Amino acid sequence: MTFLVVNGPNLNLLGQRDPRLYGTLTLSELEARVQDRARDLGVEVEFFQSNSEGALIDHLQREAPRSQGVIINPGAYSHYSLALRDTLENLKVPVVEVHLSNIHAREPFRRHSVTAEVAKGTIAGLGWYGYVAALEYLVANAT
Ligand code: DQA
Repeated sequence: MTFLVVNGPNLNLLGQRDPRLYGTLTLSELEARVQDRARDLGVEVEFFQSNSEGALIDHLQREAPRSQGVIINPGAYSHYSLALRDTLENLKVPVVEVHLSNIHAREPFRRHSVTAEVAKGTIAGLGWYGYVAALEYLVANAT
């Protein structure tokens, strides 16, 4: 079983980007924690990050069909990218949206996610652990 872990814009800057909101781990360190859990669970995870909406869409269209599920943090695209929303809506595999910070406790423009509307569920505010929890859910519910 293979799961995609997809991170959107500015998440390449984790570690140096407001650690009070986003934690102190770099993206590579975060991915290593997910990789460790995947190994324990006996599944494969493939990581991808881009700052570009088109690259995220191309990746999901190309790679998601051969995966068993997608974990995605769309970053700020969550709040307005109807193109990314359409891509996620068209996927046949389950999608879990993850936010490091609790977007519901932040600025009003962050409290709504257009992409979360087409996800199976959302985890927000649990930091890097949200990605691990999303993976555990997808593995437990994979057919
Ligand atoms: C984020 C929340 C978004 O509002 C923000 O634009 C991000 C990160 C999070 O993980 O908390 O880039 O998705």
